[in-house]
Amino acid sequence: MSRLVYVLNGPNLNLLGKRQPHIYGHETLADVERDCQALAAELGLELRFHQSNREYEIIDWIHEARDTAGGIVINPAAFTHTSVAVLDALNTFDAPVIEIHISNVHKREEFRHHSFVSTRADGVIAGFGTQGYLLALRRVARLIDEKVD
Ligand code: DQA
Repeated sequence: MSRLVYVLNGPNLNLLGKRQPHIYGHETLADVERDCQALAAELGLELRFHQSNREYEIIDWIHEARDTAGGIVINPAAFTHTSVAVLDALNTFDAPVIEIHISNVHKREEFRHHSFVSTRADGVIAGFGTQGYLLALRRVARLIDEKVD
C-alpha cells in the first residue's frame, strides 16, 4: 500500500488565520501544512498538501490520488455541504478517506449538519481545531499499516 497521502482543502481555507478566527483559530494553512509535513515524516508518510477554491481542482487531485495514493485527508470546506461531484470523485478512490472539519459543524447552522462526503468517508473529525488534521493523518497511517500487516 502506498504511503503517499493527499491532504486536500476546499474553498476559503487559503484565508485560514484571517478568516473568522473565533471559529477557525489563528493558525494559517501554511502552519497546518508545516505541522502535517513534520508528523508525516515521523509516520513515514509522503504528503501532497493542496488547497483550491475551485471544485474541479479538488476533483482532479482526487483522480490523481487514485493512481498513486494510500489515503486522502480532506477538508472539503463548503463543498462538504453542496458537492455531489466531490463525493462521486471520492467514490472512485479505493483507499482510506478521512473527512476533517476544523470547527464542530454540528454545533453550527443546520445547513452544515449534512455532508455529502461523510457517506464515503471512513472517519470524520470535527471540532478539534487544526489538530484534527494531525489526528486524521495518524488514522490514515494506522489504516495503511493495517493493510500491510
Ligand atoms: C469547515 C466547515 C464548513 O462548514 C465551512 O464551509 C468551511 C470550513 C471547517 O473546517 O470547519 O469552510 O469545513
